[in-house]
Amino acid sequence: MSTISFTDRVVIVTGGGRGLGAAYSRELARRGAVVVVADNGCDLDGNGHDPAPAQDVVKAIVADGGRAVASTEDLSTEKGGQLAVDLAEGEYGRLDAIVANAGNVFNASIEDWPTDRFESLLRHHLVAAFNVVRPGFAVMKRARYGRVVLVSSSAGVFGQHGMLGYSAAKTGMLGLMNILSLEGAEFGIVANAIMPMARTRMADAVTGVGAEDPDGSAFLDTLRQDQVAPVVAYLASEACTANQTVFSAFMGRVAALQIGITRGWTAPDGSFSAEDVAAHLPEILDTTGLLVPRTLYDEMGYVTTPDQ
Ligand SMILES: NC(=O)c1ccc[n+]([C@@H]2O[C@H](COP(=O)([O-])OP(=O)(O)OC[C@H]3O[C@@H](n4cnc5c(N)ncnc54)[C@H](O)[C@@H]3O)[C@@H](O)[C@H]2O)c1
Repeated sequence: MSTISFTDRVVIVTGGGRGLGAAYSRELARRGAVVVVADNGCDLDGNGHDPAPAQDVVKAIVADGGRAVASTEDLSTEKGGQLAVDLAEGEYGRLDAIVANAGNVFNASIEDWPTDRFESLLRHHLVAAFNVVRPGFAVMKRARYGRVVLVSSSAGVFGQHGMLGYSAAKTGMLGLMNILSLEGAEFGIVANAIMPMARTRMADAVTGVGAEDPDGSAFLDTLRQDQVAPVVAYLASEACTANQTVFSAFMGRVAALQIGITRGWTAPDGSFSAEDVAAHLPEILDTTGLLVPRTLYDEMGYVTTPDQ
């Protein structure tokens, strides 16, 4: 098994100052990467600014003999994303990988979701990823090499009560992944996503587990950050051969999501009624021979050339 090395590679880790992002930053730096720890140190609501988390991670990496620099701008702004990319390119002359991990959280039942909270979730996850990835893509395209890891969540992909804005934002990451991998292919740019689970301040807040709940706390401790970071290191590396794939990682298990479409039911003469849909629902939902399109044309091809 060859060693996965990041020697002389430059990686931006958004939200790299705390939790999983800090674990990714340390793991990448340990493997030789120069890490731009891009984190504005906001609170879980996405408010406030504190340079300390990013600076502390940088200090810890440097103390261990690694190389890192902090970018403490708000990535939900276009300027913040551009500055993180400029820092990587300006200081080190390159940008090899982006781990788009920054985000915030809020929980409420649907009727109670305030508009500003919903928008805040989209901004801190999805727009923040876009703000780094768009200028970063241009740098990677010139170098004809790049790796993008978008952090999604099973709360979005599969669903979770109370997480309306969060889930919408996290599923949006898959849209970014699809287009990055399609448009990046000819330039050696590869994009994948990860659905992690690990104990962090966000996980504590979402589960409501506190010191007064020793059982809940003990369970959360089984969700270790070092059971996610190796997957991100692989996906951010030159060794990564996966593309346009969503990985799930927690508790030592690594798996891949299949976004497929059933073979479905086709109306014999192309015309049908709502009653036909009801009557053929079992065939429509039957997952036997699931098809996994990579583009919308792939899906169209399955219908126009059904025997493939
Ligand atoms: N912890 C889990 O179990 C879990 C599960 C699924 C997905 N995730 C995702 O993993 C990522 C990391 O989560 P975590 O649990 O480590 O959370 P965390 O709150 O510990 O860390 C998130 C970091 O992102 C930073 N951040 C937020 N908005 C920012 C912005 N606009 N600009 C710059 N920095 C910003 C915060 O300052 C914070 O340090 C998030 O995207 C989260 O949705 C986590």
